[in-house]
Amino acid sequence: MTTKALFSIPTAAVGPTVKITFEGTVMTVPEGISVAAALLAGGARQFRSSIVGKAPRAPYCLMGVCFECFVEIDGVPARQSCLIPVRDGMKIKRQEGAPEFLGDTFGDENE
Ligand code: FES
Repeated sequence: MTTKALFSIPTAAVGPTVKITFEGTVMTVPEGISVAAALLAGGARQFRSSIVGKAPRAPYCLMGVCFECFVEIDGVPARQSCLIPVRDGMKIKRQEGAPEFLGDTFGDENE
């Protein structure tokens, strides 16, 4: 099993950066990239666990189709990390199993 990052962010990132937290680890990433891209570049290999069997899952399509990239963002479960741009101060956790839906919490991240 590989542990080397499949993606990387240039160390001399161009433009402004933001700080996000994934599972308690603070990461500095370029502003405007997706949460999935930021986490993959930071070395994350498990974004969620499957509902049946708790198998580790990670982004596959990176375009909003497969739903393998679910994470919890700022306490809201089942967010498609490939479609959501990073924002300074985001707190991201793995989606473990089935999400507990909290009602009408699925807003447009850009609103
Ligand atoms: S990676 Fe497929 S929906 Fe996000």
